[in-house]
Amino acid sequence: MSHKTAIYPGFFDPITNGHLSIVSRALKVFDRLIIAILKNPHKAPLFTIEERIYMIKQALKSETNIEVDTFDGLLVDYAVKRKSNVVIRGLRALSDFEYEFQMALMNRKLNRNIQSIFLMTDYKWFYTSSTIIKEAASFGGDISGLVPKLVNQKLKEKFGYAKNS
Ligand code: PNS
Repeated sequence: MSHKTAIYPGFFDPITNGHLSIVSRALKVFDRLIIAILKNPHKAPLFTIEERIYMIKQALKSETNIEVDTFDGLLVDYAVKRKSNVVIRGLRALSDFEYEFQMALMNRKLNRNIQSIFLMTDYKWFYTSSTIIKEAASFGGDISGLVPKLVNQKLKEKFGYAKNS
């Protein structure tokens, strides 16, 4: 029997419960999932690649069918390199649609063999994103329940709110 591997790409800066919801849904459909972090020199991340990998691995340490990797350049080329033809993307509210549609069509133009598959996040995470969570955390806002405990702790450390946690 052939095992089907899918790629779940993103910045994961940091991983959120919304991402984790997509990972668990993807693993119900695919045998293996490669969580692929884009190393993008044009965007200054809050967490280093190593920190992001560590947080993802900790959040998913009970999962055996995942791999965390990094990539540079085009996603479709990375997918070919990893011998996968499926890219998983999470869809939240309608606001995601246009960007995701654009990206899926560009990826399709670049390589017609790669299929984009969209999975819906659990409704609880419909309106959250790494960006909005970082914004709230930067002002000391309570973001517990939106990210794994370790990520919450790391965000507090980054923004200097770690003392009484
Ligand atoms: O975390 P994000 O912002 O949803 O991730 C976006 C990502 C990394 C999936 C996307 O920017 C990407 O695939 N970049 C790699 C470059 C590429 O292939 N671009 C062409 C398709 S738009």
